[in-house]
Amino acid sequence: MKDATLQPEKLDLRSHDIAADKVAELLRLFPEIRTEGGKLDFERLKLALGEAVDVGRERYGMNWPGKAECFKTIQAPSVGTLRPCPEESVNFDTTENLIIEGDNLEALKLLQKSYLGKVKVIYIDPPYNTGNDFIYPDDYTESLHTYLQYTGQVDAEGRRFGTNTDADGRFHSKWLNMMYPRLYLARNLLREDGAIFISIDDHEVDNLRKLCNEVFGEENFVATILWQKVFSPKNTARQFSEDHDYIVCYARNTASWTPVLLPRGEAAQERYVNPDSDSRGPWSSSDLTARNYYAEGQYEVKSKSGKVFKPAVGNYWRVKQSKFEELDKDGRIWWGENGGSMPRLKRFLSEVKEGVVPQTLWKFEEVGHTQESKKELIEYVGFENTDNVIDSVKPTRLVKKLLKIGTQPMAGDIVLDFFLGTGTTAHAVLALNAEDGGNRRFIGVQLPEPLITPESGLRTIADVARRRVSRVVDELSKEAAQSFEFTKNPSQNLGFRVFKLAESNFTTWDAQVPHEEGTLLAQLEKHVDHIREGREPDDILYELLLKSGFPLTTPIEKQSLAGKSIYCVAGGALVICLEQALTLELIRAIAALKPERVVCLDEGFAGNDQLKANAVQTFKTKGVTSFKTV
Ligand SMILES: C[S@@+](CC[C@H](N)C(=O)[O-])C[C@H]1O[C@@H](n2cnc3c(N)ncnc32)[C@H](O)[C@@H]1O
Repeated sequence: MKDATLQPEKLDLRSHDIAADKVAELLRLFPEIRTEGGKLDFERLKLALGEAVDVGRERYGMNWPGKAECFKTIQAPSVGTLRPCPEESVNFDTTENLIIEGDNLEALKLLQKSYLGKVKVIYIDPPYNTGNDFIYPDDYTESLHTYLQYTGQVDAEGRRFGTNTDADGRFHSKWLNMMYPRLYLARNLLREDGAIFISIDDHEVDNLRKLCNEVFGEENFVATILWQKVFSPKNTARQFSEDHDYIVCYARNTASWTPVLLPRGEAAQERYVNPDSDSRGPWSSSDLTARNYYAEGQYEVKSKSGKVFKPAVGNYWRVKQSKFEELDKDGRIWWGENGGSMPRLKRFLSEVKEGVVPQTLWKFEEVGHTQESKKELIEYVGFENTDNVIDSVKPTRLVKKLLKIGTQPMAGDIVLDFFLGTGTTAHAVLALNAEDGGNRRFIGVQLPEPLITPESGLRTIADVARRRVSRVVDELSKEAAQSFEFTKNPSQNLGFRVFKLAESNFTTWDAQVPHEEGTLLAQLEKHVDHIREGREPDDILYELLLKSGFPLTTPIEKQSLAGKSIYCVAGGALVICLEQALTLELIRAIAALKPERVVCLDEGFAGNDQLKANAVQTFKTKGVTSFKTV
């Protein structure tokens, strides 16, 4: 009888428990701050931290109307899910790339558990807030509902939201309210040695820098890159021709992040010569004097021919005399062809870094310009209506350069772009992998923002991205098939899985409904079968995968067991069973597989508490660490 009270845990369908994890960590570190209700006593925490806490009233920092709501937006759990769409995907079964159609705030929330600390590079190109671009209206209590309205999934008509105009009294605040929660959630996904690159222009660059200082930490600022985006100045500009955009880069942790060095260009290589046939190989020389004051940098040196040299007035040697003599003895001082010129320091190619560190000025000759990006887009998408060519599209070469700096070719690095637009980042990942034989993977998120004029099969920017990336896949697959080079191997992960944001497959108990007989009864009825109508086993499977913290490309194997079906995830680490009628035989067979975790449908037990208790016991004895029902 005692066994009948045993219950599996309920899988929390509303959790993306990042904040809860942080609170739990604080409670672990400072047990004295736990209040009776298991909450956190902030005053005691301040005492525990002692002098490390700044209790002054005036603080340096950034504030704007709506900032407090941003925290609620971050903490409000997503009630959405990502439904797989194999019919819109390319090579669904083999690819590890993802294109998610939907609002990126919801998508970032849904990805939190499965991709926490796994992303090597994030590149985003958010709306610049020029006054013409659309800023997504987040409402923290109804964020998914807003999206469903937008895409016409609740109203018959999809609702167009307006642009954020200058006339709006909250012009910058709206943009900041949109960006803050997204950057906050994105940071959680970055690896310790990862970095984020953000395209922006002068409309919001100063706000973006301050925002990033707050989210990523000022100490993690790496650089602001200037991208020369036009190939000829705009003489029609009223004051200045705006020739560049910025790309702001922050590391998740500067101590752990290093850029991949870029190959030394031919010109740089040619600077290394060997006129004195030095056995250490080619070298280049640099000035040994500088204007910087150096107390030990004023002395005279004599060449072999007896000529005396000292720094010009106001200059100093960059090394002290004893160091100079040591370098000279080691043949590292160059006195010129004739042995009697101003001495210079030799730097050997064999001793300098393998490649060159990236510079902050990126010229269009190397990374492309806006006209190039539009041409690329037209080439791959084949628009009938050029109005649809969005202005903000970036050249693939630009994103490729970011990826060269931020990723290792063969480490399976994940690249995330949650403002994917027309798919440039996905294109760049595939193209770079094809060039260097790499195995980088991408995750792109894009809103189905309507095109100005729908045309053959293309209604939204998300459609454009899918068409472009599938054509890139076609092109690269053909090239790979024709090539015998090792680097162009077919395992290059050519394809993408499409997922679409939708309401959760499970109707959740709505605690907000008025506690009146009629509404409560209606809610109870809705809850009897709590799987949303029209949802397929695959929909449920991927939702459970995310809730259980597995990436969306985890291998899943469908197996027959005791006359029923189960899904073995990640080689059997997790078993998911979506059977509506569970049997003891099936439970025993699942337990015999010795999975770490098991998830079953609650209705599978059909109210049979004895069977449920047996399941808990059976799994426990076979070492299953977590058994949950939904
Ligand atoms: C500047 S464009 C990106 C262009 C992209 N880099 C390219 O080369 O095509 C920004 C994109 O973000 C999308 N976007 C805006 N708000 C979004 C949201 N809340 N969720 C997902 N995408 C969003 C817009 O539809 C737009 O296509």
